[in-house]
Amino acid sequence: MSFDIQKILRPHLRNFKAYSSARTEYTGKDAIFLDANENPFGSASGELLNRYPDPLQSQLKVKIAQLKGIASEQVFIGNGSDEVIDLLFRAFCNPEIDNVIICPPTYGMYETSAHLNNVHIKEVLLTRDFQLQTEQVIAAIDDHTKMIFICNPNNPTGNLFHDEDIRSIVSSFNGIVVIDEAYIDFSNVSSWISQLKKYPNIVVMQTLSKAWGMAGIRVGMAFSSQEITKILTSIKPPYNVSALAQQAALKALENEAVKLEMAEVIMQENSRLISVFEKLNYVQKIYPTHANFILLKVDDPNRLYQYLTSHQVVVRNRNTTALCEGCVRISVGTPDENEELLKWMLAYQ
Ligand SMILES: Cc1ncc(COP(=O)(O)O)c(C=O)c1O
Repeated sequence: MSFDIQKILRPHLRNFKAYSSARTEYTGKDAIFLDANENPFGSASGELLNRYPDPLQSQLKVKIAQLKGIASEQVFIGNGSDEVIDLLFRAFCNPEIDNVIICPPTYGMYETSAHLNNVHIKEVLLTRDFQLQTEQVIAAIDDHTKMIFICNPNNPTGNLFHDEDIRSIVSSFNGIVVIDEAYIDFSNVSSWISQLKKYPNIVVMQTLSKAWGMAGIRVGMAFSSQEITKILTSIKPPYNVSALAQQAALKALENEAVKLEMAEVIMQENSRLISVFEKLNYVQKIYPTHANFILLKVDDPNRLYQYLTSHQVVVRNRNTTALCEGCVRISVGTPDENEELLKWMLAYQ
């Protein structure tokens, strides 16, 4: 493998001049800031939000880097992982020319972002038991393949891929392998972050939206080489993470024990739900899960979906997704919410 980030980068970005503000150029102490057309008095809300946030989210990055055991220069923060996905496309894929490989069924935003950026998609379906078709993925790589997306644990299937399969894809590819670990906090495996030194071509994504319970603030993280982090930083919108989001994220990250506790309860509830699903005669298959959701194959998914919706229980109908025909995906709720779900599922004929 000979990975050269400059070869992957879109040519017009090689000498790209990132947006720069007077605030980031100023390195002195407290000053009178008359550079950004802000309101000097304060905020109509009563909170102190009249100033633009730190565009580099320095404090937050230091905290995240500490937690993950890497350098803060290897941390990129996006307005959710969804922004990270979009920025990766913008950085590395030339519209109409380049392609990415995705392995459906998987998280839908890889495809949506590819379409939005007018980038070709090569699909290599998972196997029937939702594992990677490693050889086919590697065979699909061509001179214009810039990225391969691997979601581990995978959404909507919930399973983990074999480590050696991911490893052979990563080591056979001169482009970027995006390893999306949005659900890793619910699993018992270690993150690919530990492999960043060995594999300069991986970008590991995580998010505060799942186990940390912070979906409302939109904070997603990408861990990669300093070169890749620099590229993403240079092309992002200047203030992509709001002051409120940065403050709330810092506060949440101080409470890792709370996250661990919530994730544990969610996974206990996950097992409890499965033990009841096993008794339902219209449930044909319960797929093994390492995430906070369960994929179920049922007799008539559209009917079950409608029935649950009519009782104000909203699940995800995955019936039209390749390899998920007949399936619904159910997120694990609180014990009370799960009780309500089970009540209706037990009553369903
Ligand atoms: C696999 C996966 N990645 C990323 C995301 C989005 O994360 P964020 O909320 O950080 O944009 C989701 C959301 O459902 C997801 O399932």
